[in-house]
Amino acid sequence: MEYVESEEFVKQHHTNFRVLSKLLSSEFGTDLKMATSDKQSSPKPPPSPSPLRNSKFFQSNMRILISGGAGFIGSHLVDKLMENEKNEVVVADNYFTGSKDNLKKWIGHPRFELIRHDVTEPLLIEVDQIYHLACPASPIFYKYNPVKTIKTNVIGTLNMLGLAKRVGARILLTSTSEVYGDPLIHPQPESYWGNVNPIGVRSCYDEGKRVAETLMFDYHRQHGIEIRIARIFNTYGPRMNIDDGRVVSNFIAQALRGEALTVQKPGTQTRSFCYVSDMVDGLMRLMEGDDTGPINIGNPGEFTMVELAETVKELINPSIEIKMVENTPDDPRQRKPDITKAKEVLGWEPKVKLREGLPLMEEDFRQRLGVPKNK
Ligand SMILES: NC(=O)c1ccc[n+]([C@@H]2O[C@H](COP(=O)([O-])OP(=O)(O)OC[C@H]3O[C@@H](n4cnc5c(N)ncnc54)[C@H](O)[C@@H]3O)[C@@H](O)[C@H]2O)c1
Repeated sequence: MEYVESEEFVKQHHTNFRVLSKLLSSEFGTDLKMATSDKQSSPKPPPSPSPLRNSKFFQSNMRILISGGAGFIGSHLVDKLMENEKNEVVVADNYFTGSKDNLKKWIGHPRFELIRHDVTEPLLIEVDQIYHLACPASPIFYKYNPVKTIKTNVIGTLNMLGLAKRVGARILLTSTSEVYGDPLIHPQPESYWGNVNPIGVRSCYDEGKRVAETLMFDYHRQHGIEIRIARIFNTYGPRMNIDDGRVVSNFIAQALRGEALTVQKPGTQTRSFCYVSDMVDGLMRLMEGDDTGPINIGNPGEFTMVELAETVKELINPSIEIKMVENTPDDPRQRKPDITKAKEVLGWEPKVKLREGLPLMEEDFRQRLGVPKNK
């Protein structure tokens, strides 16, 4: 027999609920909320974190997993997190674009652990926070195996979210300014939904990250997972892969080798570049803060590709020439973050100027390429 609630019954039920709720809140300070349809979209309370998060008795108070921690940004994040003696850091990486070399100073440290692991496979481990960075970031690498790139973004993010759900960990995703595609709004605020080609050669990365963001919010709404999403804009600094096709590393390597700087046509396309220490600071503030994001983290200083080439030429090797070459498909014309939200919510803004950051990167590239300063 079908059970139908009469209007009178529902009214009475609601009245009883309100009386009970009032009683409870005056007696125990409990805020009891009615499960009405408009409340169904609110996130569930997060699952309990592991007892380690608040433990006073262990050597560490916080066990932090960094997927992709052997890569460029991840290894700098490891350095910063390891400065705090209360942190224990675990890196899971398949070394596709990262390297043990980036972490060599920590290998063997009692608070550090390195696992060869592909995030497209599940990982069972007790942690309190997850920085989920695993994903090739350079077009050369992510286009090399686009199917694997999208699997890393979708299955990898699902696996990391599954882990966060199981152990009650807070999880931060490093998304990207590429979710804005070739933007029609400039600069890009977080509220902009983007202009992305779903079937292009870059889509494995752009659309992969968009799905990853969707998964993060669905786990947050459905399972109460504590999520944080950073939308990272172009970042540069020591430990970038030397021949990874990203413009800053390309120009510095070309300048040091005495080759012409190759600017993709038309050369008026713009990018903004954030030094890696500023990026790490932004990511950690986001993880520790209360806002889920997405939050843009990047440097709003905007340069055309020709301006960048001229700056590298002036700072590193004034005798080289600048050569225009054909562009790759779907290369966005403009990219500049609106960081109003990061300023307001995280109290964050970048400190290192391009002219200060480039020489620090030059130093690292000289060592790795074996090009001494006074050649
Ligand atoms: N560097 C930037 O300018 C930039 C811009 C936007 C977003 N991001 C994002 O920041 C994160 C880190 O970028 P990065 O510049 O350090 O790149 P990176 O390529 O140096 O680091 C990525 C790391 O992930 C690892 N990895 C890749 N696939 C994996 C898999 N399936 N399983 C386990 N590990 C895997 C790689 O080996 C590497 O160590 C990425 O998620 C990237 O999308 C970076």
